Amino acid sequence: MLKRVGIIGVGEYLPERILTNAQLEKMVDTSDEWITTRTGIKERHLASEGQAASDLACQAAEQALANAHLKAEDIELIVVATITGDMPFPSTASIVQNKLGASKAVCFDISAACAGFVYGINIAQQFIACGTYKNALVIGTEVLSSVTDWQDRNTCVLFGDGAGAVVLTEVAKGGIISTYLGCDGSKTDILKLPAGGSRQPATHETVENRQHYLKMSGNELFKIAVNTMTQAAQTVLKQAKMTFKDVDLIIPHQANARIIMAVAKKLGIPEEKVYLNIERCGNMSSASMVTALCEAVQEGKVKRGDIVLLDVFGAGLVWGACIIEW
Ligand code: ACO
Repeated sequence: MLKRVGIIGVGEYLPERILTNAQLEKMVDTSDEWITTRTGIKERHLASEGQAASDLACQAAEQALANAHLKAEDIELIVVATITGDMPFPSTASIVQNKLGASKAVCFDISAACAGFVYGINIAQQFIACGTYKNALVIGTEVLSSVTDWQDRNTCVLFGDGAGAVVLTEVAKGGIISTYLGCDGSKTDILKLPAGGSRQPATHETVENRQHYLKMSGNELFKIAVNTMTQAAQTVLKQAKMTFKDVDLIIPHQANARIIMAVAKKLGIPEEKVYLNIERCGNMSSASMVTALCEAVQEGKVKRGDIVLLDVFGAGLVWGACIIEW
């Protein structure tokens, strides 16, 4: 008999340093007006020098543990979703385990870009549902500023740094009702960080050619994101035998407010049922969804018994949707 799995604690950490659109106007040829109307972003948080993904992750995890009334020693699994881990190896999850003192936890990272958090809770759910582990921490953490080309106006206005965490465990009722994940590996080229891996190891040339910064065909991604997120939400609701009328709040990936509103319109979901933190945070990849969920809970926008729909899309291309009864 599979166990029912739910989220019993949430936490987030946003670095203190804030970069506003006005400050970006002084760095590249852009304007607050362009960024606001094209993306919905006003400001983003940036990690300070020396702050790595695990540092942000631990702050969020400690808050989630306190919120769940658990101690680090109670955690048996740590999954860290990140594309900007402290280093290629060891895993950021191992570093987090040590810093938290979660010595009983099995740990690994997953790389699913912006969809990382939904992939992560689905993985943790399997372990708990089968009875392998009791309590799991799933963390989305990014220091995207470390892979952002601050000379490229096409990308540097979009991203921010942050982390969010949740604690999952067996619950008596509600919890994760349905999850749908997908991938189209034929489009890996439209959003990538070209160098620094085994395909193109770091050389003076890769550094000079700015190949260690993320590259994105924004326009191409825009259309795919709208269609894919719409289809993912429809699929997961069908799986759960629900309709959009059953949904109390949709938390979409925060890549672009225009993408989000286009998806909501296609789905027939009113704006007041859509949660946004993109204006204050930008796109934080795997940290976006989990921080938005955490903030929605802390603001009282998600109450016990509510149906929450998570809907994500990112580099890979990967996507996912998940329905949770809170
Ligand atoms: N300031 C001013 N002008 C700009 C800026 C800027 N910051 N950036 C681009 N422009 C210009 C372009 O150069 C172009 O000028 P041109 O017409 O003279 O060539 C013009 O604005 C329009 O450019 P587009 O790329 O067509 O602008 P668009 O409306 O598509 O918006 C954006 C660009 C915001 C990137 C959008 O395409 C987008 O959000 N795409 C999706 C991003 C996404 O979903 N990413 C996936 C998840 S992220 C992850 O997985 C890590």
